[in-house]
This record gives sequence, structure tokens and C-alpha cells, in this order.
Amino acid sequence: MNSLQLLPQSASTFASEYDPFFWCLVVVCGAVTLGIAVFVVYAVIRYRRRREDELPEQIEGNYKIEATWTVIPLIIFLGMFGWGAKTYFDVEAPPADSMKIYVVAKQWMWKLQHIDGQREINTLHVPVGRPVQLIMISQDVIHSFFVPAFRIKQDVLPGRYTTIWFKATQPGQYHLFCAEYCGTKHSGMIGWVYAMEPHEYERWLTEGAAEGSLASTGEKLFHQFGCANCHHFDGHGPCPDLRGLYGRPVVLQNGTTRVADDTYIRECILKKKPAPVAGFADFMPSFDGHLTEDQILALTTYIKSIGPQPGTGQPSSSGTAPKNYGTQRGIAGPGATSNAGTESDSR
Ligand code: CUA
Repeated sequence: MNSLQLLPQSASTFASEYDPFFWCLVVVCGAVTLGIAVFVVYAVIRYRRRREDELPEQIEGNYKIEATWTVIPLIIFLGMFGWGAKTYFDVEAPPADSMKIYVVAKQWMWKLQHIDGQREINTLHVPVGRPVQLIMISQDVIHSFFVPAFRIKQDVLPGRYTTIWFKATQPGQYHLFCAEYCGTKHSGMIGWVYAMEPHEYERWLTEGAAEGSLASTGEKLFHQFGCANCHHFDGHGPCPDLRGLYGRPVVLQNGTTRVADDTYIRECILKKKPAPVAGFADFMPSFDGHLTEDQILALTTYIKSIGPQPGTGQPSSSGTAPKNYGTQRGIAGPGATSNAGTESDSR
């Protein structure tokens, strides 16, 4: 069907999932439209008025026909709903072993940040056969990350992380578009995604690692902006010890619990929503306007990387904290996830 060029290239696992669904919708809707059109034309001719004084025969209804044309479409359309819902849940649930890449959109460029330190503008290099999760935020207005060959499109919002994932299946070069009108140069906010064989991707990674990992950039910022003055790594500082924080539930002074994810950490740095952490005075200043989204992502990645031994700057493989790190003020121990009062919004 691709030879007809009705669809873009198919280069991700979503393509083989969405395309049959797309064609199903086209065929069902086309068949219904065609059926109705043919019947209208037929009825116009067959039941046209033949004499000036002709009156039509009165019809009182037919339960069998009415039940048939109600139940059959109901089943078909509920089936399509279920199929569509499954694909939706698939695209909304990145696999746990996804490789994470941060995306910052701004007028009018895409900045892409790999955890290992590579930074790209308007290009994205990814390996084939491996799930890649994009964690995205905008520095200014709403943009939309759109790669037709991967069948992914996700709005990128200011002030909120959104995420999308894909698994490339074919090595190649694919268009990246901004799909949300974002100002005069919206049409120029385009780029390329390069899907590479894993060994080529590894080679590409090693070629550009001079800048250091994202976590080490974050560590520098952590000292540069004076975070280390209050957040000590011995549990005795005036502010919460951030070791092993990432992914943990945090009890706040207002009694609610938040999971320390990217959104929570960003809100803490910018002093947006969260109440102060239980057991601590509120010394934290707001860095709103002092840090770019890239820098916030670097700080978050650094915080994610620090287990009981701070300062190594090594990102932990899955972003989870070491399990043996003990309970400290406000930060609950393992397994203490509380559903009650949780206001977490990791999206
Ligand atoms: Cu960014 Cu349109």
C-alpha cells in the first residue's frame, strides 16, 4: 500500500500498529459513505413521484431492520473504539527500559540532549530496535514534535513535561517537523531524525562526548548556583539531603505526598507548586528566570544520578535510587508510596 505514497515511510513499531487501524477506519467510513450515497441515488430514482396526485404508501416501522442497523454498527464502532484505545495506551506507556532523551523546544529550534552528554540542534540520532522516550518541554510557546515516519506527534508545552516514545525499525533519515503554529518561523522549525544501527550509534555517541554527561553538567550547576550550600550530603544540612531522592515519595508540610519525579524537581527549583518538605524550614529561593529549561534538566539528571555516594556524576541506569538508602525527614523509605493525597503528575 505504501507504493501508492498515501502514507509516509514506515520506520517505527507504531507504523505497523497504526497503519492497519488507519486503513480500517478509511475502509469502514468509506463503505458507510458509499453505501449511503448509493442508496440515496437509488431511492431518488426508484421512489420518485410519478403523478401529480401520487401519495406515498405509509410505513409503520420495522423492528427487525431497526435493530439490525443499530446493533451491527454499534458492534463495529465499539470494536474500533477498543482497537484505538489499545494503540493509545501503547503510545502512552513507554517501556521501562527506554533510553531517555530530553527535548527542549524554543522559537524556532529543537534542542535535544542525550543523557551521556551529546547535544544536538534540529537533529536526533537514535539506535534502531531500542525504545526511546522523549521527555519534552518548551522554553516559550506551544510546539509539537512530529515525526511522520514514526507515526508520533506530541505537543511540547511551556511549564510542563510531556513525553512520547518510539522504537525505530529501519535505519535511515526521517523528517522532524514542528506541527503547531508557533510564530513567524514555525515552518522552519524542522530537522532530521537519524535512525542508526546500534554499533553505528555507539560510535556516534563516543565521537561527541567531550562535553561530559548531562549529570556532570548538572553537578557543576549544582555548585555554581549554590544548591550545595544548603543541600548537604550528610543528612545534616538545613535543606533536604537529595541523595536517593529521585523516584521517592516525599511528604510535604501540607500533608500530601509527591513522588520526586522530573516534574516535582522542576517545580521545586522554580518554586512553583509544591509545599515545603515536611520537617524543613522553607529556605529555598526561586530560580525562575535564572535557569533555562536545559539547565533544569541537567540539574534533575544530576539529582537522579546521586545515590548514597554523591559527586560521581554517573547517571544511574534506570533512574531509580538505591534501595538501601534509609528513611530521612520527609522522604519516605522504599515501598512507602501513598496513594492518598498524592498530587503527582509526571506528565
Ligand atoms: Cu514550533 Cu511550530
